[in-house]
Amino acid sequence: MTTTKAESMTDLHSHILPGIDDGAKDLQISLELLRKQYADRVTQIALTPHFNFERQTLEEFLKVRNRAAQELGRAFRMSGIPQRMKLGAEVFYSSEILQTDMRALCLTGTSLLLIEFPPAYYPQEAADVLYQLTRRGIVPLIAHVERYAFVRSNPNLLCDLIEAGAYTQMNATSLMLHRKYQKLYLRMIQHGMIHVVGTDTHSPSKRPPMLADAMKLVEEKCGQQMARRMIENGAVLFDGKEPEYLEPRAMRQILGQWI
Ligand SMILES: [Fe+2]
Repeated sequence: MTTTKAESMTDLHSHILPGIDDGAKDLQISLELLRKQYADRVTQIALTPHFNFERQTLEEFLKVRNRAAQELGRAFRMSGIPQRMKLGAEVFYSSEILQTDMRALCLTGTSLLLIEFPPAYYPQEAADVLYQLTRRGIVPLIAHVERYAFVRSNPNLLCDLIEAGAYTQMNATSLMLHRKYQKLYLRMIQHGMIHVVGTDTHSPSKRPPMLADAMKLVEEKCGQQMARRMIENGAVLFDGKEPEYLEPRAMRQILGQWI
C-alpha cells in the first residue's frame, strides 16, 4: 500500500469555521467540508480564518472566532465525525506583527502562526521580521507560498524565509488545478522548499479540500519519502513540535525555466 493511501493527514490551513470570513458561509457548508476532509483521511484540522490588523481589532476577531467555534463545536459533536480541530488564524502580514503579542493567534496550544503575505509584492524586510518573531518564540508558517508571483518568479526567496526560521505551506488545489505551474510547484517540493501541503479550503466549489489527491501526486512525482515527510511535518507542527526536514536546495534558472 502506498504512503498516502495508508496515512491519516493533517490540514494546517482551512476556512471551515462558519460565517466568519470568505470561507464556509454557514454551518451546513462547514460540516460538508469536514466530511470531505474525513473522506480524504484528514483527521486533524487547523481552523484558520483571515485576520487583518487593518480591518479588525484582535479583541473583535477573537470574539467572533469564539462564537463561530462554539457554533461549529455543537454541530460537530453531534455529527460523529472523528476529527481533531484546533483554532488558529491566517494573519495578513503587517508591521503590527512585531508590535503585538501574537500568541492569541497561534494554533491552540502551540507557537505556530500562519502568516499570509500581500499578493502583489515581497516585503523586503520579511526575512528579518520572521527572524524577530522566532526570537520571541513564535514559529511562522507562510501560507500558500506558491500563490505569490514574486515566489514564482524567484523560488529561491523561500530559502531566505526558511533560513530565517519559517516553515512553508503549499495549497493542494494549486498543485492539482494550476496546470501551468504544476511542474514548478513539484520542483519546489523536490528542492525541500515546501514543508506541508494544506487545503486552504473555502467551500466545496471555491478551493475544495483535495489533500489526498495532492499528496498522491507528491508521492508519484517526488517519491514516497518526501510525501511521508510532508505528512509527518503537518502532524508534528499541529502538535506544537518542530519537524525534521531537509535543508532547502536553491534552484537554478536556465532559459527562463527554474530547475
Ligand atoms: Fe487561507
